[in-house]
Amino acid sequence: MGDKKLYTREEFENLRIESAREMAKDQELCQEALNVLVRADHYRWIHQTNWLGEPCLNLPQDMFALQEIIYKTRPKFIIELGVAWGGSLLFYSTLMEVLGGERIIGVDIYLPENLKERLASHGKLSERLILINGSSIEQDTLGRVKAIVGDCREVMVMLDSYHTHDHVLKELHLYSPLVGKGCYLICGDTVVEDIPEQEHRSRPWGPGNNPKTALRQFLKENDRFEVDHYYDQKLLLTCSPGGYLRAVKE
Ligand SMILES: C[S@@+](CC[C@H](N)C(=O)[O-])C[C@H]1O[C@@H](n2cnc3c(N)ncnc32)[C@H](O)[C@@H]1O
Repeated sequence: MGDKKLYTREEFENLRIESAREMAKDQELCQEALNVLVRADHYRWIHQTNWLGEPCLNLPQDMFALQEIIYKTRPKFIIELGVAWGGSLLFYSTLMEVLGGERIIGVDIYLPENLKERLASHGKLSERLILINGSSIEQDTLGRVKAIVGDCREVMVMLDSYHTHDHVLKELHLYSPLVGKGCYLICGDTVVEDIPEQEHRSRPWGPGNNPKTALRQFLKENDRFEVDHYYDQKLLLTCSPGGYLRAVKE
């Protein structure tokens, strides 16, 4: 604001939306940002974020975007497939403490006792958490999630478990019907498509077989969701480019 103009809130909103759109057109800048992410990945950069002492395996940029989505859409339920250390669950619960909401459901195949104890040690924030031990793509797991959510469609879903094409595509088919119009489904770690085959960290997924490829196929078959490009455009550095989906139909 070097010209010292005082903007109204609405003008400032329009200004930054337009600026984000312009930034996204700067291919050189976007490539430089991706280069930073790819190089920093060698040093576990995306593992360096904490919330209330527990790691969130996501960039602060993406955590802030999630906060904006939760503020905007006020989901009653948040379902996260893939818990890891649980920092993200505590992050969602902190927001729900302020904004309201019912439950946060975390699904993982590996939930050791010491993780459950740590996640249960946060007073009111812990009371909202429900952990389900099971594979996200098992019907039994989905049934347990549905039994908690009931008929409510004010649901946000975060897919962040096993990042192969087939697994994520199944998750998209199984969990997208829970997300009602106006709410968000986030397909995490789509950036895997843009990261060259990893030698330092060998994984069953990589370019050509990852959340982004699954999402592309899903969007060809499904017209209930649209990519919210505002997040792509403004984040610049993100683990989930093109992964922020808004339900546009019931
Ligand atoms: C990327 S981490 C999740 C990070 C977490 N969402 C966060 O923001 O900190 C992936 C997790 O998925 C879990 N996982 C792997 N296969 C799974 C499956 N079939 N069903 C559910 N969780 C799975 C792993 O045990 C691991 O904890």
